[in-house]
Amino acid sequence: MRVIALSAEDDFEGWRDAARALASARVPPSEIVWQMGEHPADLFGDEAVLEPATPAALRVPRAFLDLAQSVILHSDPQRFALLYTLLAGLIEAPKRIEDRADPLVRRLEEMAKQVRRDIHKMRAFVRFREIADDAGPRFVAWFEPEHHIVRANARFFMDRFANMRWSILTPELSIHWDGETLSEAPGASRADAPSGDAIEDVWKTYYASTFNPARLKTNAMLKEMPRRYWKNMPETALIGELVAGARQREIAMVQTARESLGGNIAGAWERLRDEAMGCTRCHLYKHAAQTVFGEGPVDARMMFVGEQPGDQEDLSGQPFVGPAGQMFDRAMADAGIDRAAVYVTNAVKHFKFEQRGKRRIHARPDAGEISACRWWYAQERLLLRPEMTVALGATAARQILGKTVTISAMRGRAIDLPEGGVGWVTIHPSFLLRLPDKARAEEEYALFVEDLKGAARAGK
Ligand code: URA
Repeated sequence: MRVIALSAEDDFEGWRDAARALASARVPPSEIVWQMGEHPADLFGDEAVLEPATPAALRVPRAFLDLAQSVILHSDPQRFALLYTLLAGLIEAPKRIEDRADPLVRRLEEMAKQVRRDIHKMRAFVRFREIADDAGPRFVAWFEPEHHIVRANARFFMDRFANMRWSILTPELSIHWDGETLSEAPGASRADAPSGDAIEDVWKTYYASTFNPARLKTNAMLKEMPRRYWKNMPETALIGELVAGARQREIAMVQTARESLGGNIAGAWERLRDEAMGCTRCHLYKHAAQTVFGEGPVDARMMFVGEQPGDQEDLSGQPFVGPAGQMFDRAMADAGIDRAAVYVTNAVKHFKFEQRGKRRIHARPDAGEISACRWWYAQERLLLRPEMTVALGATAARQILGKTVTISAMRGRAIDLPEGGVGWVTIHPSFLLRLPDKARAEEEYALFVEDLKGAARAGK
């Protein structure tokens, strides 16, 4: 029996190094005990000592490492052993990581999803209250995460509240930021955090300015805000009032948000993408592997909007990489548009499908799912402000125009968008893949290329 002692609940590096060495030496999962803290060598004698790593023999799919990084933060004590079992299996069958029907892969992916959600919830629901200590004002928040995510989330708060001195107290770990350095301290209790004071007004204002009416329409805001956090949140008192002035606030928010970025669009885009990874605005996150966010330069002049990620996009995390993506790439090249210079995203950012045996069959997003996802599309537009936005297919057209349209009636002409810039509607490349008649498919392909060329010209 080998006992592996990890230094902390979220010790990914410790787990990875040990797992690499053990898997290289083909140590079976049943012979390993994963523990926290000091190595209890006397319990197991010499066998507990780990041999030095021989990593040369081990090649692990990138997707596994990404999965492991999230799963390690889960509160399930079995996580280290489960991950190691999959790792050991991947040595013989590296493709196993792609098998959506494999119960272990599914279980680990579900755990990773729960972790991502918890990370998102902490970002959304931490509420600071102001106190004064020897060095001046300090903002203190109490939060109870479900998983071991506090350390992993620290960077987000350091970036967002860089100029404040703040502390986040949680039952397992407390983190403190003094404007320059992050330090850690043991866990705390709710009683250690202040409750209710002047800062509440600031939060109420902040909340009012970031309030998104689309969420309320689908009632997703109330769903997303678990009741157990409500007591920490002064702004819940404001919900009724917010509904009334929501639209005005949304418009004002768009302006202030962009101004407040101070030019760091790329940084803001990265934060937005990170937040989208934990999106629970509609139910689609429950079955998809991950959020597939937009991709491309943030100063792109053209934005292309597809329908939703497909099977391959869901697995890879990138838009338009599967069969429709290849058709899109070919048509873009024939239209003389450099894909690397444009921004490519989807109207809906989670894969919707029906499971049939081992296959996941694409299912069309409905109106509720499209409008729940509008938040991310609107934020992408706010950051990029593209001159030309091309909708690929009916779902995308609905997203960019805010209403249902017929492609044949709208395609191939410039349409002024209410928030600025020009829109352009064309077919979805997967339409071309479905045409059985070769001559018709070629004709439609040529029209598609012409549409793309027209969009490039109109966006100049
Ligand atoms: N179809 C889409 O609409 N988007 C993708 O990313 C892939 C296929």
